[in-house]
Amino acid sequence: MGFRYNNRKWKDSMRLRLDYNNMMTDFVGTREGFTKKEIRDNMSIVDTAYNLVQLKRGRNMMGWSELPYNQEEILDDVIQTAKAVRKSCDYFVVLGIGGSALGPMAVFQALCHLHHNELPKSKRRAPKFYVEDNVDPERMAALLDVIDPEKTVFNVITKSGATSETMAQYLIIMNMLKEKLGENAASHVIATTSESKGNLIKIAREENLKTFYIPDGVGGRFSELSPVGLFPAAVLGIDVKEMIAGAAYMDKVCKNEKVFKNPALLLATFQYLAMKRGKNISVMMPYADGLKLIADWYCQLWAESLGKANDNAGNKIYSGQTPVKALGVTDQHSQVQLYTEGPFDKVTTFLAVDNYRKEVTISEGCRDIPDVAFLCGHTMNELIQAERQATEYALTKAKRLNHTIYLPEINPFTIGELLFLFEMQTAYCGEMLKLNTYDQPGVEAGKQATFALLGKRGYEDKKEELENATKKREDFTIA
Ligand code: PA5
Repeated sequence: MGFRYNNRKWKDSMRLRLDYNNMMTDFVGTREGFTKKEIRDNMSIVDTAYNLVQLKRGRNMMGWSELPYNQEEILDDVIQTAKAVRKSCDYFVVLGIGGSALGPMAVFQALCHLHHNELPKSKRRAPKFYVEDNVDPERMAALLDVIDPEKTVFNVITKSGATSETMAQYLIIMNMLKEKLGENAASHVIATTSESKGNLIKIAREENLKTFYIPDGVGGRFSELSPVGLFPAAVLGIDVKEMIAGAAYMDKVCKNEKVFKNPALLLATFQYLAMKRGKNISVMMPYADGLKLIADWYCQLWAESLGKANDNAGNKIYSGQTPVKALGVTDQHSQVQLYTEGPFDKVTTFLAVDNYRKEVTISEGCRDIPDVAFLCGHTMNELIQAERQATEYALTKAKRLNHTIYLPEINPFTIGELLFLFEMQTAYCGEMLKLNTYDQPGVEAGKQATFALLGKRGYEDKKEELENATKKREDFTIA
């Protein structure tokens, strides 16, 4: 068929590139930088991680690795349902949090118009899009002020069906829909959840909701390429088959057993070795507003997957890097001072775009003010590229570890590649650190304390534990 993602030449032209020069001693000096020899000296760790990932693919919590290949039927359903939703509604609202929200938000920001919701309907060609990933009462009230329930479809996304935030939102929305639309309420809600367990699947069956399933081996933060992300993307008119093709393309690249040919394995190795040297912060700095929320999505993936107290053998390791998002060029005027002159505790990942989807020329004017006039005749495209190169240069000169991932352009294919690259990098790094990449006991602890505080049955002991915790002291409060 004539889809561009079936064309080998086009796909190769869309391949992401990793420039790791500034991770090496040649550029940041012998104290900070790495050598190829150092990486080769750690080859047994790298090889073991590589082999474990290959062995675990498609099994247990690595079900996500097969999402580029096993969703043909699901994709047809996703696309058909999305078409109907696009026709019938003006507002599409995702109810979800964490891995059930960050991916849909990131892909929306990357692949839709940057002011999508403000566009007139004739130019939008998809409903207005909202992701409610908090339980701030003011935000929920604000949403209800701007949508028309009759013209809204809600996609409630929760794998466990036990997440208080999402289920609270569901209860509010379902009640509102029943009050306003009576029997039609259920046709305004689509559930995305686990087929085999949890509460939402039970509710969905009782209420007769259209349901998409999240496969058992796909955890929240690895679920963007499942119906969690594909359905909202399809509603927005994004070519989800192209996204999947991009992920499959990157998967092949990241299967290469040679570390210097495999960007996910090499990035995992750099970050692993950097962590060993106390580089505890991973900065993700895209130079494109479209990629701003990809940085948020990465932050969750990296933080929840690698921030662990114990390794697989039960040893205390307290591992992980704190992920920090920054936006180029905006944060050059906010954070880059720290990155250049502050502690040597960071690895910066720049995301660069070769060809922006628009070109804007800087207008003529102020010819008699040289400090301004030099800009005239250049494009904003040239300006943003120059500022990125300049920041990269400044960091490198100050001997700060950094590397750049280049996207030839931002489109569904390259976004599929990018998501899969970071997922694979995380999987490899988790194996190097010998930990469980796919659990999140720290998040669960917070969830359980919330249950106890709100009086959920079965959490009486937890409630008692909280009540018996050290009481706060008045003299440690300033009022
Ligand atoms: O990555 C994860 O597993 C978590 O961040 C979850 O996505 C998040 O806690 C929401 O869980 P659920 O989809 O079960 O509502």
